[in-house]
Amino acid sequence: MHPVDAMRVPLPSRIRLLAFPLLLCIAGCGGGGSTLPPPPPGFTLTASPNSVLVAQTQTSMAVTVTVTPSNGFTGSVNVSLSGLPASVSSSPASPFSVSADSSQQVTFTVGPAVPRANYAVNFSGTSGSASSSTGLTLTVSGTPLTSATGNFKQQVIYQIVTDRFFDGDITNDNPAISPGLYDSTHTNFQAYWGGDFAGIQQQMAYLAGMGVTAIWISPPVDNIDKSTAAAGSPPSAPYHGYWAHDMMCLEEHFGNASNPCDWTAFDNMVAAAHQNGIRVVVDFAANDSNPDNAGEFGVLLSMGQPFASFQNDAPAPGNFFHHNPDITDFNDPYQLQYYTLEDLADLNQDNASVDQYLKGALLQFMNHGVDAFRLDAVKDVTWGWEYSLANVAFTAGATFLYGEWDQGGTSDPLYPDSHKFANHSGIPLLDFPLANAFRDVFGSPNGGDFHEIDDTLTTEASDFLAPNDLVTFFDSHDLPRLLSVYNNQNRVNEALALLLACRGIPVVLYGDEQYLHNDTNNGSVNGGDPYNRIWMSSFNAQSTAYLLINLMANLRQTNAALAYGTSMQRWINSDVYILERQFNSDIVLIAVNKSETTSYSIGGLFTSLPASTYPDYLNGLMGGFSIAVTNGNPNNNPVTNFNLPIHTVAVWQFASAATAPQVGSIGPLLGQPGITATIAGQGFGSSAGKIMFGATAATTNTWSDTTVTFTVPPAAPGTYEVQLVASSGSNANTVPFTVLTGPLIPVTFTVNNVPALAAGSAVYLTGNVVELGSGVVTTDAAIGPLLQPPNANPPTSWFIDASAPAGVTIQFQFAIIASDGTVTMEPGAAHTYTVPNSGVGAISVDW
Ligand code: NOJ
Repeated sequence: MHPVDAMRVPLPSRIRLLAFPLLLCIAGCGGGGSTLPPPPPGFTLTASPNSVLVAQTQTSMAVTVTVTPSNGFTGSVNVSLSGLPASVSSSPASPFSVSADSSQQVTFTVGPAVPRANYAVNFSGTSGSASSSTGLTLTVSGTPLTSATGNFKQQVIYQIVTDRFFDGDITNDNPAISPGLYDSTHTNFQAYWGGDFAGIQQQMAYLAGMGVTAIWISPPVDNIDKSTAAAGSPPSAPYHGYWAHDMMCLEEHFGNASNPCDWTAFDNMVAAAHQNGIRVVVDFAANDSNPDNAGEFGVLLSMGQPFASFQNDAPAPGNFFHHNPDITDFNDPYQLQYYTLEDLADLNQDNASVDQYLKGALLQFMNHGVDAFRLDAVKDVTWGWEYSLANVAFTAGATFLYGEWDQGGTSDPLYPDSHKFANHSGIPLLDFPLANAFRDVFGSPNGGDFHEIDDTLTTEASDFLAPNDLVTFFDSHDLPRLLSVYNNQNRVNEALALLLACRGIPVVLYGDEQYLHNDTNNGSVNGGDPYNRIWMSSFNAQSTAYLLINLMANLRQTNAALAYGTSMQRWINSDVYILERQFNSDIVLIAVNKSETTSYSIGGLFTSLPASTYPDYLNGLMGGFSIAVTNGNPNNNPVTNFNLPIHTVAVWQFASAATAPQVGSIGPLLGQPGITATIAGQGFGSSAGKIMFGATAATTNTWSDTTVTFTVPPAAPGTYEVQLVASSGSNANTVPFTVLTGPLIPVTFTVNNVPALAAGSAVYLTGNVVELGSGVVTTDAAIGPLLQPPNANPPTSWFIDASAPAGVTIQFQFAIIASDGTVTMEPGAAHTYTVPNSGVGAISVDW
């Protein structure tokens, strides 16, 4: 039906409507007959605007409350306000009076601890027997941010594919400099659909009301301007952002249509996010530029000027790119780092210009207020070089990095390389093993066993230095959405609840809170890329998932067990998982029954929750209920038996003010003297104490009860158990931090004439600096294994890219480590090399 038709009254009814007053008139409109009493005086109350967004500790712009009289109403109206959460006040205070035909400006002031959420505020006006009411949505967002942080553990990240989220600026839908790549019908999944930075900014209240505290946006850099599809075919465009052609500027479809190097729209979005306590994470792809076989054939610009040409790369100036075939063996470290990923022109990070370009691009984002980076395809970029990339970021200021190391699970052949990389580079990873376990458990209609999640948590807890820094997810822009795998909204809710309670920093993929999915088969799976990058067609702030994310994100702010706690399985079978998180006396216990058919009686459950009765923190949103805990052994109190019905999630929690300093986080995990690092936790007190590296005190820059930032002191390089001492003299628990020798430079180390290797043996590099393992020759401490290209000639040469301290003269040596751990050191004295002060280095020696 046309919308206007919907307003029209059908003809026979119209006749009836006209006939009704006519009949009344026949009865009573004639002179001398009785008249109807006039309608009583009344009024209508309105409030404008009907939604306001106010950050914690801020005051809103004025809301105008107006009284519009009818039927001769004069007098004044008594207006009372309801629905305001505690610690939000209004000015004027409720009740207040407004005269007929006039307005009153009302502002709200929000206190610091008000939960981030949408509140339905009601104005109700009365005057004598007349009344009218109206309402508005008050969204309380987080405290405005003034600085970045090395501690991301309290964040909940919302992942946005910018092009698919919200069109806030139609002038950049089809830019003249890259025309024809836009599809307003949203049917060509490979075209731009209109989402942009302004769109994200305009949805800030939706994001803030959901409680998320960070947004990870798809790569915002300027992408190629040409379709990669064959002439005459529908366009194939880089709407996803992974086909950069100028990393120093921004995509014109997302910002300024005619000037990719104009940062205004991006800066405005970042400012709006920060104003509402939301951090911005940029997806940064250092592996490649764009397709080498279509479109712009890999060409890369720098602020609009030619920078690198894939097709004219060699011989001079040369080597901006690797020119190798596509990766076929994703378990071969050489192929991964030096071959081509999905036909994308593979950058050579060891070229000094490329090194400087990539680091410059990342620093430019930091200068524009970006808080953190998701590093694309870290498994495919030169591993050793990435240490220096992280070091450049950490040297520039407080930030958080996490890398995409795509893998199946903890038995993946390169799983050991993944935790070695994370632990030594200071770059935590997206937790693919846990994501795959979640997908198996929740995406299988009848199968799926919680032991898979539990085993993954246990294994990773012993392999990763900072499991709470792993970035967790179950849906992503690269995987079919869980709803495409198994179309069951209960399971999405259950998976979200557990993800948000689990250790690690959770990521929610945009649209999951709206249960969006498109199950079109992409040739291999239903709902796979690009059908998982759907249009955000709904912004319902009342969906169960939206409300659930809100509650759990707020819990992450108020109960330190989620950000910093340990994980302990308290009850498990294939359908039920009861997980406890604990940080000192802060406890969160979550119970999930994912079964479609079976309720379970839960007996023999113990918890660290102190004896008491605990209501469901989710207020029954997913069928939860109270439990009773009685006294037992310390940290092992019995829970009175209960029944856990199908598709139930319950959360019980206890948090108390810390009476002693408790450290939950240090970030980054390593860095040279002079960089800023962050220690977070609780109970630090409000006056500054000390941060000790052995006997050396760090200079503290800021000190609050929960967060300390400090400058890494000039302590001797090595790993320290860092000690926070409160001003009261109380010592906190210690946390490990590795003091590097200096800022890092990528160096290619080559060794020739290496003896033939026995099967299972590999060559490693060691050196007298902490960056090269301090001379400890184990597979974990030493750098390696070294690599060689297939059919290497001579086959006795091996190389590795490692990051070494700038300007330092180092001693280094190679070793062969056999599969049983036996070490054969390179004979003779160690080699000496002075690492350059800047740029990149290379050194080749004989065994
Ligand atoms: C992984 C990203 O997540 C994916 O979407 C992208 O296509 C590849 N890296 C290449 O950049």
